[in-house]
Amino acid sequence: MKVLITGGCGFIGTNLIRYILKNKPDWNIVNVDLLTYAGNLENTAGLEEAYPGRYTFVRADIADREAMASLFAKHSFDLVLNLAAESHVDRSIEDAGVFIRTNVMGVQVLLDASLRYRVGRFLHVSTDEVYGSLGKDGRFTEDLPLAPNSPYSASKAAADLLVRSYVKTFDFNAVITRCSNNYGPYQFPEKLIPLMVLNAYRDRELPVYGDGKNVRDWIYVDDHCRGIVMVAEKGVHGEAYNMGGDAEKENIQIVRNILNSLGKTEGLIRYVKDRPGHDFRYAMDFSKIESTLGWKPLINFEEGIEKTIRWYLNNKPWWEKILSGDYKNYYERMYAGR
Ligand code: NAD
Ligand code: DAU
Repeated sequence: MKVLITGGCGFIGTNLIRYILKNKPDWNIVNVDLLTYAGNLENTAGLEEAYPGRYTFVRADIADREAMASLFAKHSFDLVLNLAAESHVDRSIEDAGVFIRTNVMGVQVLLDASLRYRVGRFLHVSTDEVYGSLGKDGRFTEDLPLAPNSPYSASKAAADLLVRSYVKTFDFNAVITRCSNNYGPYQFPEKLIPLMVLNAYRDRELPVYGDGKNVRDWIYVDDHCRGIVMVAEKGVHGEAYNMGGDAEKENIQIVRNILNSLGKTEGLIRYVKDRPGHDFRYAMDFSKIESTLGWKPLINFEEGIEKTIRWYLNNKPWWEKILSGDYKNYYERMYAGR
């Protein structure tokens, strides 16, 4: 099986590649990544040597039609797992342009290349944010209308609709996964959990947006990766599948949990100006994938968060390099005026 993974040097992509190399011995991977600020070659270092002949990296832009055409012509992929994206909501509020380019136009380029070169199956990794925001009750189901609220989630919703249109128009063999908030090793420290872990560890302030009562449904990244592989293998052509961690938490609970685990005081918490258009709550109904494919999350939040915190403490050189580079400028821009 020849598999193209896009965005494999990012957080979920890196974990997915490791999961597949370990658990699917007859899957060989080509990882295409542009290496944006979020893509880090160190995340996949050593994989070529550890799995000879099974892993190849190519630096390219999924929105580059010529580059994708020559890649697809060269490899005859059986399966495409599309994870490449601009993924951070706050950045999409600053500048939506690159989100449209990668998350919408990039997907169109991949769909066209997959059609032309007769890829057997295309799995598009989407997000729960395409459904919009929930009040205190209810959960997202796959049949809800898409109602995105940020430029990021609008770009992801646009891609979902494009995928749907290729299924309907060309009978293209595609499936979509929509997952809730992931956490785990290799997550870029702009996202809530790694940002708070690293700030608390270094005795820096923890910037909590608004009143800290927004709710997210947290899933350990390995559970998501296992679900992606399951949907790629067994998902029904044209269907979308929700995944979630069954672990709804207010942001402030997460922050307190991290402070406790690191033995730090709540004096580090600073409530800052809210994110514009901040979605109040996400919660996933994953009964469809559970009843049809037998997937459910296996790692509970208490176990997952401890593993994650330990990973960051044990991998200081990984995050020190990130914090000393460009990300520092972003951090100063994003939080200085709040
Ligand atoms: P990430 O930002 O950590 O990684 C994205 C990767 O895509 C990076 O390696 C980057 O270099 C690469 N990339 C960006 N633009 C590219 C382009 N034009 N061509 C090729 N590569 C490009 O993101 P992540 O958190 O790992 O998310 C991966 C996917 O999963 C995204 O599609 C995201 O929307 C989706 N998702 C994420 C979460 C989450 O909680 N992180 C939850 C549900 C869905
Ligand atoms: O739900 C899935 C989505 O989860 C993915 O599609 C996105 O790619 C991913 O970035 C994530 O989006 P969120 O906006 O939910 O994640 P983020 O880590 O940015 O924020 C989580 C919550 O924490 C949110 O309510 C905003 C809040 N927050 C975030 C940051 C970075 C803070 O209070 N302070 C912060 O500094």
